Amino acid sequence: MSLYIGIDLGTSAVKLLLMDGAGKIQNIVSREYPLYFPHPGWSEQKPEDWWNGVEEGLDELIADCDKSQIAGIGIGGQMHGLVALDEKDDVIRPAMLWNDGRTQKQTDYLNNVIGKKKLSEYTANIAFAGFTAPKILWMKEEEPDNFAKIRKIMLPKDYIAFKLSGVHCTDYSDASGMLLLDVKNKKWSKEMLEICGITEDVMPKLFESYESVGDILPELAERFGIPKNVKIVAGAGDNAAAAVGTGTVGDGMCNISLGTSGTIFISSKEFGVDEHNALHSFDHADGKYHLMGCMLSAASCNKWWMDEIIGTKDYAGEQTKIEKLGENHVFFLPYLMGERSPHNNPNARGTFIGMTMDTTRADMTQAVLEGVAFAIRDSFEVAKSLGIKIDRTKICGGGAKSPLWKKIFANVLGIKVDVIESEEGPGYGGAMLAAVACGEFATVEEAAAKLVKIVDTIEPDAELVAKYNDRYAKFVKIYPTVKELFDTVTI
Ligand code: XUL
Repeated sequence: MSLYIGIDLGTSAVKLLLMDGAGKIQNIVSREYPLYFPHPGWSEQKPEDWWNGVEEGLDELIADCDKSQIAGIGIGGQMHGLVALDEKDDVIRPAMLWNDGRTQKQTDYLNNVIGKKKLSEYTANIAFAGFTAPKILWMKEEEPDNFAKIRKIMLPKDYIAFKLSGVHCTDYSDASGMLLLDVKNKKWSKEMLEICGITEDVMPKLFESYESVGDILPELAERFGIPKNVKIVAGAGDNAAAAVGTGTVGDGMCNISLGTSGTIFISSKEFGVDEHNALHSFDHADGKYHLMGCMLSAASCNKWWMDEIIGTKDYAGEQTKIEKLGENHVFFLPYLMGERSPHNNPNARGTFIGMTMDTTRADMTQAVLEGVAFAIRDSFEVAKSLGIKIDRTKICGGGAKSPLWKKIFANVLGIKVDVIESEEGPGYGGAMLAAVACGEFATVEEAAAKLVKIVDTIEPDAELVAKYNDRYAKFVKIYPTVKELFDTVTI
């Protein structure tokens, strides 16, 4: 039976997954790499570290399998990061990541001087500090020597596809987050390229997520001991790949991803833009479209609270002490890296409010979990205001391992939460896209229908939903009240 490799190029680590043609996961390995914060609000990684992680991880992943059966490799990756290569295809500077907030000035220029209306007309989106176009403008203004060296730009996962295949490529879902793609018509926006001072030859070639960009380079086939015709598949941004991996394809399906970032992803057969551009309007890996809200810190808020503040690795143990869902008097704004959807404010900060002398550690932990769910509800409310009806969602990512958090989500959103067999969203999705490219399935929808299995459903409880509606009504008042302060207290 053919074997497919899915790579999830995340922010804390790369995860590699080996799947057989029947969808069974044969092996999963991961490699961590450093994340650099050279200034407050900046966030960078070295593409070379990603590639080392992938090389080492691949060796381990396929050590015990029948390597002759490996047919394709598909990659899902952290979106929006700017990877810039010089004339020798060497990396010019560390990649600025999706949660990097240094480009406020350039973002304001794009939104206010070029204007949101024009941006939305060109790309279906407006500028957010983490998007790629403002980073190009930042490089042009702040590092003109580096800017002058640029011969190719690409997104993080595309650097891995390039190292594997030698092809400068990207896919439509990930390209959507650059603010350089005409999302509706699936071509680079000439206007946006001009605004950013770059030409089309600098851009990678566009592919559908389920298309092969080429075979693996012969020297790498030999190095890994795998067939010379292993297909390198374009893959997708991690959220679109996760949507494939959770079967969120076709029309009106929803997936929530709880990783370093938190996203709510709604698939659609038709192109659509929300008039305020509060949700991103992007291409999907199934060849269609999606709307997405993205918060910059999700499971990472709980990780921060557990590891850095209360100093424990026993996440599950801490959660067993939480007894009264819906009745917490503490609120937490989860804006530890600023916030994208819907506030678009890199200066927003994490905030606890409402503590009293009888507040317990469990109340604070609960507030962190609830704060992330309330912030996802902010984007969910935007989707509802557009007339989109969602009565159930899938959930994936590290945070989805917590039964309590899933229950909180079901009740904060008031919808059913479907639990799928594996929460390895982007890695599984990457392997599925590879399987489609290799002809194992005719379409992404067919692969999803055949491979993704729901193993449990968490139903919302009417009483708890009512309690959370009251709490959410209080939560939404906090940000506008403290917003002004963030500009003063932020370094
Ligand atoms: C999506 C986004 C994040 C990253 C995280 O717009 O910025 O979800 O893709 O990997």
